[in-house]
Amino acid sequence: MTHQSTKVRIILGITGGIAAYKAAFFARLLIKADFEVRVIMTQGAQAFITPLTLQALTGNKVHTELLDAEAELGMGHIELAKWADFIIIAPASANTLARLASGCADDLLTTVCLATTAPILFAPAMNQQMWANKAVQANVQRLQSYGYHLIAPNSGEQACGDVGAGRLPEPDELLAHIEYHIKRHTIPQTLAGKHVVITAGATLEAIDPVRYLSNHSTGKMGFALARACRDAGATVTLIAGHVYLNTPFAVNRIDVSSANNMLEVAETLTSDPQLPVDIFIATAAVADYRTREAAPQKIKKIQEQMTLDLVKNPDILATISADNPDIFMVGFAAETQDVEKYAHGKLVAKKLDIIACNDVSRSDIGFASDDNAMTVFFADHYQHQPVPLSKASKDKIAEQLVALIAQHVS
Ligand code: C5P
Repeated sequence: MTHQSTKVRIILGITGGIAAYKAAFFARLLIKADFEVRVIMTQGAQAFITPLTLQALTGNKVHTELLDAEAELGMGHIELAKWADFIIIAPASANTLARLASGCADDLLTTVCLATTAPILFAPAMNQQMWANKAVQANVQRLQSYGYHLIAPNSGEQACGDVGAGRLPEPDELLAHIEYHIKRHTIPQTLAGKHVVITAGATLEAIDPVRYLSNHSTGKMGFALARACRDAGATVTLIAGHVYLNTPFAVNRIDVSSANNMLEVAETLTSDPQLPVDIFIATAAVADYRTREAAPQKIKKIQEQMTLDLVKNPDILATISADNPDIFMVGFAAETQDVEKYAHGKLVAKKLDIIACNDVSRSDIGFASDDNAMTVFFADHYQHQPVPLSKASKDKIAEQLVALIAQHVS
């Protein structure tokens, strides 16, 4: 992306299939997301949707011909190939996959794909039997081995009446894919190759089958960190307590309920030799206590007073830290006074590398807010002064925190 315009340039390739109609919605979304879009349509695509529709949506003439004298004077195939920052083919038909896989250059789209250095994403869409066909699957694998990025089709009811895999993902899903790839190409991949596990949200401790003890944590900070770590190139596993948030794109999410449940999942993940954990970030608001035993039946309101018998929950962060001295440990703390003293105490007690402290006496940041502000403290051996992160969105704070983590993780 070396050109003057700040907008990311995307070529949307549309091929012949009933899902081509969704490409119009997708083109609209790309424009709304502030991309500059040029559309290339194959002949097959034009049987399903007209170039005029795409021209009206993108504000640019649609490209359809390879050997068009007029086009070659202006935006010919080489200019288009150089113009693009990214190419996304949606829908990609079995025919186009086969032509791309064998290096054909018999129409504008395949020729541009051969001539570009831009990353190419492709979203196959076809009948489920065609999608399952060995030749199609072999072409998909071949394209992936050439560096093309597959956007796997969804499963469900198809336009032809069949049920199975082969549906084009919805336009917002396609947009999430392209945004993810853009970030991967534009943001420094400081956590490439790292596996990060993040706990987030409130735990929920059962009192009886219908009641529980919990807290107001929304999980927003943990989810923002999951996105920031992913954008920095990490593989991210999010252990989510009680939250009402959408799973970030390309993040593996495991839902849990109680603190014990969260600890169990954290222990399983950190002892998996297949996918070793490099960094553990604990943002979860874990309930300090749980009921000694949840009542098996709903408790009736017969007594004038009742007492809950509570026992202390395990400290997930401290447990994982003690058992895994090689994992880079990041904790959070909410303090109202003597922030530095308490932060340092927790760093030492829980054997952390970094602790991020919020001042919870401020009502404009923290729990339910979209903003946060914090001071980051480092373990003594790093000999690093505390870093204040001034009030900003949780996404911005997460980015800054990830930069600090990346500086210190080996
Ligand atoms: O001791 P305190 O609750 O202030 O510690 C906060 C940090 O420890 C947070 O990172 C939190 O996610 C983590 N924690 C935990 N398990 C607990 C309590 C806190 O992982 N039971």
